Amino acid sequence: MAKDKTTYICSDCGGATPKWQGKCPACGAWNTLVETVADNAAGSRNRFAGLAPSAAVARLADIEAAEVARTPTGIGELDRVLGGGIVEGGVVLIGGDPGIGKSTLLLQALDGLQRADVPTLYITGEESGAQVALRSRRLGLEQSQVQVQAEIQLEKILATLAATKPAIAVIDSIQTVYSDQLTSAPGSVAQVRECAAHLTRAAKSGGTAIVLVGHVTKEGALAGPRVLEHMVDTVLYFEGDTHSSFRLVRAIKNRFGAVNEIGVFAMTDKGLKGVSNPSAIFLSQHAEPVPGSCVLVTLEGTRPLLVEIQALVDSGGPSPRRLSVGLERDRLAMLLAVLHRHAGVACMDQDVFVNAVGGVRISEPAADLAVMLAITSSLRGRPLPKGFLAFGEVGLAGEVRPAPRGQERLKEAAKLGFSVAVVPRANAPKKGSRETEGLAIHPVDRIEEALEVVRSLA
Ligand code: TYD
Ligand code: MG
Repeated sequence: MAKDKTTYICSDCGGATPKWQGKCPACGAWNTLVETVADNAAGSRNRFAGLAPSAAVARLADIEAAEVARTPTGIGELDRVLGGGIVEGGVVLIGGDPGIGKSTLLLQALDGLQRADVPTLYITGEESGAQVALRSRRLGLEQSQVQVQAEIQLEKILATLAATKPAIAVIDSIQTVYSDQLTSAPGSVAQVRECAAHLTRAAKSGGTAIVLVGHVTKEGALAGPRVLEHMVDTVLYFEGDTHSSFRLVRAIKNRFGAVNEIGVFAMTDKGLKGVSNPSAIFLSQHAEPVPGSCVLVTLEGTRPLLVEIQALVDSGGPSPRRLSVGLERDRLAMLLAVLHRHAGVACMDQDVFVNAVGGVRISEPAADLAVMLAITSSLRGRPLPKGFLAFGEVGLAGEVRPAPRGQERLKEAAKLGFSVAVVPRANAPKKGSRETEGLAIHPVDRIEEALEVVRSLA
């Protein structure tokens, strides 16, 4: 019986126990035991033993550093985040909200590859073959030669991979795949982890590149298994507001390329189309400046993006709320404290909402200054000047720290017709710089100084 082979291992200490318990008998942690299959007497600690064949120990200098072979997908923006293309035997995890376009993008990519005579396989667990076919017609891929199989059982998928030996296989999605070696339900942490480990093993040994599609929970984590991120070579996330047509694909881990590179797409009635010059797509159009809005230049990978930060400060109840969309909430709390302590701007009794327009997620601290100026502008009910932008990290002591590659940010803003900027002093260009012509730049050292500049501009 399958049950005999199952073991429970603690995700904290790795200790194994034959029976599920609330508390790990080895380390005493609660709710850390996860079902897994014992491959041999040594227990399931050896689950990854097959990931790589054992090789001789060699001096680093003697090992030939071969460049990995990449197959470009033909979709420029996707290749950019992948670091040039799909790597043989590489495993890519692509996550995102339902309906954001994961299946669409991958079907487009597979079709392009198949047209270039790269053998492909699309395993669909969420939709039937007919639904996938319908989508391909909608995408204008009538004569698509992509091989499709509707299957959710791991063992059968592995058999198909071994028999057809595609160069690239997409598993849509990893949460629907299950192995009958485990008793847990499909989509559970144990199933997802076990199936992903087996597929990774198959990719490495068979030379097939595998793309795993994963769902993201409400909290923004790939459902359950963060451990998947460690197993795979590349992790891509889809971002963007499903209500707007723009989508970002961000690389958050890449063993074969740069991270934090982004690909930008627009969802059209014929699928996703790359946007090669995306710097202005996240700006909302206000005829006249409104209070609580401040534009920021953020550097995503190699390209600067202009993003509008909106803040709404409104009188709150006894325990005022702090809410942020697209920005870190803990950082927001910190910035509010800095504003109060160093610039005398008090929001203690106010609800504060902050939003990065367009569903982008901004993780770089260079957004601090724009967030603080937007909050102050909303609190005072005074808009920032027309054509205004700001960037820079703000420290706990109220100091404004430089942002990386400030010149590029300012250059892009000048190109888009912005006229006033408040920036960290170290980011101010040299006198007479022609690249930022038309942009009046106000360098500042401290947050109170930035607020002073804004007041003088009004
Ligand atoms: P989908 O790729 O199914 O999302 P996921 O696999 O991430 O869940 O995307 C579905 C959405 O995209 C759906 O709301 C319809 C829309 N769409 C278009 O706008 N144009 C198209 O050509 C296609 C195929 C889908
Ligand atoms: Mg899908």
